[in-house]
Amino acid sequence: MPSQLYDFVVVANRLPVDKVGTTDDGEPLYETSPGGLVTALAPVMRSQHGAWVGWAGAPDEAGDAFDSDGMHLVPVELSAQEIEDYYEGMANGTLWPLFHDVIAAPEYHRHWWDAYAKVNRRFAEAAAAQAAEGATVWVQDYQLLLVPMMLREQRPDLRIGFFNHIPFPGYEIFSQLPWRKRVVEGVLGADLVGFQRRSDATNFLRACRRAAGATTRGSHVHVGHGEGRRTVHAAPFPISIDARGFEALASDPAVIERAAQVRTELGDPDAILLGVDRLDYTKGIRHRLSTFKELLEDGALGDKRVVLVQVASPSRERVKAYADLRDEVELIVGRLNGDHGTVGWQPVHYLHQSFPRDEMAALYLAADAMLVTALRDGMNLVAKEYVAARHDDDGVLVLSEFAGAADELHQAVLVNPHDIDGTKGAIVEALGMPKAERRRRMRALRRRVREHDVERWARDFLGALQDGAHAHDEEPAG
Ligand code: G6P
Repeated sequence: MPSQLYDFVVVANRLPVDKVGTTDDGEPLYETSPGGLVTALAPVMRSQHGAWVGWAGAPDEAGDAFDSDGMHLVPVELSAQEIEDYYEGMANGTLWPLFHDVIAAPEYHRHWWDAYAKVNRRFAEAAAAQAAEGATVWVQDYQLLLVPMMLREQRPDLRIGFFNHIPFPGYEIFSQLPWRKRVVEGVLGADLVGFQRRSDATNFLRACRRAAGATTRGSHVHVGHGEGRRTVHAAPFPISIDARGFEALASDPAVIERAAQVRTELGDPDAILLGVDRLDYTKGIRHRLSTFKELLEDGALGDKRVVLVQVASPSRERVKAYADLRDEVELIVGRLNGDHGTVGWQPVHYLHQSFPRDEMAALYLAADAMLVTALRDGMNLVAKEYVAARHDDDGVLVLSEFAGAADELHQAVLVNPHDIDGTKGAIVEALGMPKAERRRRMRALRRRVREHDVERWARDFLGALQDGAHAHDEEPAG
C-alpha cells in the first residue's frame, strides 16, 4: 500500500512523461510532456491531490512512483511481450481499426485478448492501490476498456468515469468483436461514460442492449439486479485543447517571424496547404495526396504555385498496417514530386517527424488552408489547434465530416474525403475564398474553440460525474 492515498486518480495507457535519461543507479528519469490531456488535468490534479497511473512507454521499465509538476505519477510496467500483445496487438491491431470502421482489417487473436485482460487488471490494481476511500477515478480510452469494471469489483466505494477518445462504431461493426460482451460490461463498470460525439454515445447504448442485454432509457443504462442495481450515464463530452495557451504561443513574435520564414523557405509559393497527422491510416493521407495530385494534373489551381506541407509524425511503427502505410505514402510522395517538381521546386514537402509546439504554431500561421481530411477520427485536435493559432482571423479549415470536430466547427469547409472531386472543389474554394469570408468564418470558429476549451471539457465531465451521473436526459437512444 502506498503511504499516501489520492482523491483523484487518472488512469491512461501512457503517463504524461518522456524518458530523458537514467539516474546513476540505473533508475529511469522522466520529464512531464506537454500533451492536451495533462494540460487539462494538471490543475485538477494539483488542487485535488491527484495521481496518474500509466505506462512510461518502454519495455520492462517501471521504476518507483514519483512526483512531477504537482502530480503523483505511478508507472505501470509492461514486458516486451505485453507491448506486442496488449499494445501493438489488441489495442492497435484489433480495437483501433475496429472502432475506426475497419478502414484496416482488425485481427482477432485470443492470446492478444488474454494479454489485454491481464494488463487491464494490472492498471486497475495500480489505480485501486492509489485511490483514497470514495475517490474519483477517471479511466481514459480504448486501451483500458475493462478497467472500469475491474476497478469497481475491487473498490465499490469509488466514483468511476470513463472517456472514449476514439469513435464508437455502429453495432454491425462492433459485433465482429469476439469479446464484445466483456468489453461492454467492462466499460459499464463506470458511473459516467463519455464520448466525443452524440452518435458515438448512441452506438454504445445500442451495443449495451445488443451485446450485454442491458436495458437503456434515454442515455441511461440499467445494470445489475436488486441491491447491485446501478445506472450508468453515456453522453457526449467533446474534448478540446488549451486554446488560450495555443493562441498565446502563436502570438509570440518569434513564432510569427518563423511563419514568415517558413513561407520563404518553401520558395514563396502563392498558397500553402498543410496536413498535420500521426502517420495513421485513419487520417486519410493517401486520399489527400491523390486529391492534390489531381489538382496539379487537371490545372484546377490555375497558374497558382501551390505547395502541400505534410507533417506525418511517426506512430506505432512496429504494427504492420502502419509500416505498410509509410511505404505507400512515401511512394506516392516520391512519384508526385518526381512527376511535378522542377529543379528547386517540389509540390509536396513531406516530413516524417514530430515537431515542438512552437514550430507547429508557425506552420499553422503560414498555412493558407489546413487539410484535416480524416476518414474517421474521434475528434481531431489539429483542427482546433489551427483555429486557435489563427489570431490574425485568416486561413481556411477544410474539415472531414468524419472527424468529431465537424460537429462543432460548422464554419469549416466540410468534405467527404472519399469524394475526390468534392474535396478538390473544397480546396479550390478555400484558396479562392474572399478575405472577408475567411475572416467571418475564422472568427466564428475561434469563438467556439475559445469557449469550449479543454479545461471546460474536464470540468463538464467531472461535474457530471460528481452530480451522480444523473444529468438531464435529453434524447432517446437510437
Ligand atoms: C490517439 C489515442 C490516444 C493515443 C494517441 C497516440 O489519440 O486516442 O489514446 O495515446 O493516439 O497513440 P499512441 O499509441 O502512441 O499512444
